[in-house]
Amino acid sequence: MPMTSTASSDSQFRTAVVPAAGLGTRFLPATKTVPKELLPVVDTPGIELIAEEATEAGAGRLAIVTSERKVGVMAHFADDPVLEGTLEDRGKDVLLHKVRRAPGLIEVVDVRQEEPLGLGHAVAQVESELGADEQAIAVLLPDDLVLPFGILGQMSDVRAARGGSVLCAFEVDPENVSSYGVFEVEDTDDPAVKKVLGMVEKPAAEDAPSNLAAAGRYVLDRVIFDALRRITPGAGGELQLTDAIDMLIDEGHPVHVVVHDGARHDLGNPGGYIKACVDFALDNPAYADDLREWLAGRLGS
Ligand code: UTP
Repeated sequence: MPMTSTASSDSQFRTAVVPAAGLGTRFLPATKTVPKELLPVVDTPGIELIAEEATEAGAGRLAIVTSERKVGVMAHFADDPVLEGTLEDRGKDVLLHKVRRAPGLIEVVDVRQEEPLGLGHAVAQVESELGADEQAIAVLLPDDLVLPFGILGQMSDVRAARGGSVLCAFEVDPENVSSYGVFEVEDTDDPAVKKVLGMVEKPAAEDAPSNLAAAGRYVLDRVIFDALRRITPGAGGELQLTDAIDMLIDEGHPVHVVVHDGARHDLGNPGGYIKACVDFALDNPAYADDLREWLAGRLGS
């Protein structure tokens, strides 16, 4: 299908949804008391990086889905007059800027998921928060860092041109597909955009329909809420977002995927998290030289 210029405000999202009510079991024992979204990538909690990405993509507000166990995630976006006053009195301007950054980024709303009944269930909680005119939402899984920022803008453009919902994929080595949700796709006239025919969760390498794995970014048409009401619990007894998207595909709703040409880190497990920290630290002049030297020595020994 040729790209047509059908862009309208309907195709853009205003609310970016960040489901953060999961238990984070892959990161225990740290996540017994510390929400994984607050674990720092160098010095900045992952959730702040996600808020920054959503803001850059044009979102007007962030709807963070939390549970009672994870109220600290919201606290990161609140002003802290005592701390700020102390830093101000001491002339610690750089630190003051860092502390004030998250509360100043974007309007944040707390949406409660009383029980962790699945990602689909978490997203469904946001419907009542949306304005009647909001025809699309973005969903950003906070475990996933998709770098450099900008993929959501590309995904919105694809929705504007082709309608429906738009997901994000990255290429993985065929022998590693079994760790991911994998897309079954058909080519379009744009090599970076594929039409999604279906999704297979964690297929064996020989059964995988492609080497395009799902990344945690979605631009979803509002009809997703209708599908979420109609699905039944799937894998792990949870209401799966993927099942709702599959239902929409079966019903003829256009779903495309943008193939991300960049880096991605999975902050949801210690191995991926460590790589993200090293990656960010190597780009940070405050730590890069020392870290590189230490790593070289460590790897050499
Ligand atoms: P994950 O399954 O990757 O995260 O869910 P988790 O459940 O927190 O982590 P593990 O698997 O136990 O280590 C993907 C995203 O969906 C959110 C999670 O917080 C995560 O950001 N989620 C998941 C919810 O908000 N609610 C749920 O019921 C389930």
